Amino acid sequence: MQILDGLLVSKATKDELRLKVAQLVTEGKKIPHLAAVLVGTNGASETYVAAKVKACQEIGYKSTLIRLEDDISENKLLSIIEDLNLDPDIDGILVQLPLPKHISDEKVINTILPSKDVDGFHPVNVGRMVQGLDTFIPATPYGIMLMLEHYRINTKGMQAVVIGRSNIVGRPMSILLSQSGNPGNCTVTITHSHTKNLPELCRNADIIVAALGIPEFVKGDMVKDGAIVIDVGITRVPDATKKSGFALKGDVEFATVAPKCSFITPVPGGVGPMTIAALMKNTFKACVNNN
Ligand SMILES: NC(=O)c1ccc[n+]([C@@H]2O[C@H](COP(=O)([O-])OP(=O)(O)OC[C@H]3O[C@@H](n4cnc5c(N)ncnc54)[C@H](OP(=O)(O)O)[C@@H]3O)[C@@H](O)[C@H]2O)c1
Repeated sequence: MQILDGLLVSKATKDELRLKVAQLVTEGKKIPHLAAVLVGTNGASETYVAAKVKACQEIGYKSTLIRLEDDISENKLLSIIEDLNLDPDIDGILVQLPLPKHISDEKVINTILPSKDVDGFHPVNVGRMVQGLDTFIPATPYGIMLMLEHYRINTKGMQAVVIGRSNIVGRPMSILLSQSGNPGNCTVTITHSHTKNLPELCRNADIIVAALGIPEFVKGDMVKDGAIVIDVGITRVPDATKKSGFALKGDVEFATVAPKCSFITPVPGGVGPMTIAALMKNTFKACVNNN
């Protein structure tokens, strides 16, 4: 069994981007600038946004963090996004999800200019991804593809089971794994909370991507020998032994699954860092495209 080390691969990706930024500086060109919008004070969202801003600093991008109150009106948030759309210095815009209930995710996503939509959630970018055209690919599935590529895993002809069908992880993941190319060329089954015989589907899978948000859902007896298991889940579970008061749990029961796998991602240190690395790649691309 080999660990797919997200910290290592994300560091390599960020190192590569740092060199590219240095090159832009040498050429007197504009450096990437990411605007991150954080509404409210959700602990997990705070952590994710802080990690994204830190990655910008490490690579040499500019970043602007816009913190907004929980009770900001939808119209006000949309007008802030419109201002960012018009700002020529901003290359990428991300609005950290989830948003408070009174704000429509859909309206927010649709307001971000597709050319600055570095999360790849705008319908224009999703459509381009589905058609296999050049676009911004949502950061988590993109990060997983980068990791498979880094470890030179040949996925051609594999049976893949994706657990979860969200617009940000499961659905784009299923599309990318089914696309022509490597990684890709898989036969993909996308599953959700109404799927029957999920354990059986998993047992036949060469690759399982678990993105459902239920800690340790995938157990050893659901995985065949030699499978590749990608654990997207991050759930905070109370843990009095930790300083923070919580531990991060994946959707895979590592202790029983890992011994059966050819490759597996740990939590933390797997998909999480790759998501950030992929976002950084998208931001670089936005800067190059927009200038
Ligand atoms: N590592 C990272 O960087 C990263 C990034 C994003 C998300 N995440 C984590 O990944 C997990 C999933 O995130 P998400 O945003 O995709 O979640 P989500 O929007 O809540 O979607 C969860 C999906 O799982 C499905 N599901 C729920 N229970 C199931 C069950 N018992 N069997 C099969 N499918 C089931 C749901 O089915 P229905 O559609 O039928 O409801 C839904 O499609 C969360 O833990 C999240 O924190 C991690």
